[in-house]
Amino acid sequence: MDKKILIIGNWKCNPSTKKEVDHLLDVIKNGKIGNSKKTEIIICPPFVYLQNIIQSFKNSNFVIGAQDCFWEPKGAFTGEISCSMLRDLDCQYVILGHSERRKYFKETDDIVNKKLKIALRSRLKPILCIGEETRDTFDSEGNPLNEMSLTVGDQLEKALMGILSAHIDEIVIAYEPIWAIGTDNSCSSDDAMKATLFIRKILTKLYSRSVADKSSIIYGGSVTSKNAIEYINDAGMDGLLIGGASINGSEFVKIIENIND
Ligand code: PGA
Repeated sequence: MDKKILIIGNWKCNPSTKKEVDHLLDVIKNGKIGNSKKTEIIICPPFVYLQNIIQSFKNSNFVIGAQDCFWEPKGAFTGEISCSMLRDLDCQYVILGHSERRKYFKETDDIVNKKLKIALRSRLKPILCIGEETRDTFDSEGNPLNEMSLTVGDQLEKALMGILSAHIDEIVIAYEPIWAIGTDNSCSSDDAMKATLFIRKILTKLYSRSVADKSSIIYGGSVTSKNAIEYINDAGMDGLLIGGASINGSEFVKIIENIND
């Protein structure tokens, strides 16, 4: 069977109250989007809401992920959340290396690599975010001219350091150009496709063509119900990582309906 299209909602540091969470969950559940053979829906709320949300989606096809994890399994690390805790709750995915964590919390490629390794060891599927800061241009053969290739190539190689090819298909690679995140300035489907080809080229160099072909590469950055379908149908992305539009229940439902249609 074909791979399911991954639709990942990254709630970031939202909503502020349990009441708003309940409302958002009601809208998502009433949207009747959970049983599609075409999409796998993954909700990544803040840590404090995980347990309730996992409980509330029990016996449904919704899957729950975390927005980050720590690189040690346990110990004296005040404020941190380990992968074993997340697994124990029944979390299945974890977002790693998001640009906001790299920017505000100074996460380096080395930290992302350590988190990726422990996530895989803990049987959590990492959603590895990579992306350049400013918009790039491409030559006539589709090769990125500077920033995209440098940043994306560098972040990917460093994040995957020491990770065996057998694990690559457990990792979801999210191409998230920073200039497109939360800006309404989304990347064109054409450029998203070029970035995907470039990522597969690097995976081929690091591993093999068949590893590269099997990898799941998704897009994130100002996805809405108006543009979502283009990334899937035109750019051939394996899914979407959705921030702002995922905390607007009806917009999130609409995105998934459009893809399921
Ligand atoms: P956005 O965020 O959809 O609000 O642009 C995407 C992300 O940061 O994952």
